[in-house]
Amino acid sequence: MKKIKKVVFPVAGLGTRFLPATKASPKEMLPIVDKPLIQYAAEEAASAGIKELIFIIGRTKNAIIDHFDSAPELENELIDKNKKSLLRLVRKIVPKNIDCFFVRQNKPSGLGHAIHCAKNIIKDEPFAVILADDLIKSKTPCLKQLIDVYYKKKSTVLALEKIEKSETDKYGIVEYHSREDNLFKIKSIIEKPSPKKAKTNLAVVGRYIFTPEIFSKIEKVKPGKGKEIQITDAIDGLMKDEAVHGYIFEGKRFDCGSKLGYLKATVEYALEHDELSKDFINYLKKLKI
Ligand code: UTP
Repeated sequence: MKKIKKVVFPVAGLGTRFLPATKASPKEMLPIVDKPLIQYAAEEAASAGIKELIFIIGRTKNAIIDHFDSAPELENELIDKNKKSLLRLVRKIVPKNIDCFFVRQNKPSGLGHAIHCAKNIIKDEPFAVILADDLIKSKTPCLKQLIDVYYKKKSTVLALEKIEKSETDKYGIVEYHSREDNLFKIKSIIEKPSPKKAKTNLAVVGRYIFTPEIFSKIEKVKPGKGKEIQITDAIDGLMKDEAVHGYIFEGKRFDCGSKLGYLKATVEYALEHDELSKDFINYLKKLKI
């Protein structure tokens, strides 16, 4: 069986929910305490055994390329000033033995279209996708949990989360044939159904393992909701030919593409931050909310 060695980060979206911050800067570079969202995602991929990071970038996303490039002036300055721990911090942004690739999506035509931009790099292999604005805190990296399911089932695997029924119109929602604990054999998937129309409250969130057959399915998709090429529609096509599983992962997800989700993540990560947590807790205690 082919190993999962490549991950795609679609980071070419416009991030309209986070304007004006995202007018000229990528939302994936927003920091949670001191680290940008995209670096959390890259670290999750590395700790799941991924060897190639493929970024699908758009016009305002060059900061992401710079973040994963070396920075000789900064490094020299840190060497001169003997700031060893900061130097280590900067040098380990790209984990060892990992290669980065950048592909430009010429216009934001949807998540399905963005993933398809990686086709020539992925070729004929199963691969992972991480949406960096879904930050997931877990004991075992969420992507590793999905990869383990892939090795058992040899099928496409979608990360699932039980959401409030009132929220179904923000997610792809699945219906299933059967379940074993947290693992579901998926029967159907619908993009953003209204709470009345949704058959379940099981939402697909920002982690996926795909078989390479997804590319030919994306090619058949016509623009759907928001005139975008939706990955949901391609998954629906894939299910007609092969099994698709969903897995409710262990962990807590923060929707950092929304302002409230971003604030929640900032608070929770600050509360656990080695240098900051004590002072931050003291500060919060003094706030009379
Ligand atoms: P979102 O639905 O979060 O869209 O995309 P968005 O444009 O980033 O943000 P809002 O909704 O306008 O605030 C889900 C993921 O797919 C990527 C986004 O970067 C995000 O990681 N994406 C979306 C692309 O890479 N290209 C696209 O054309 C659309």
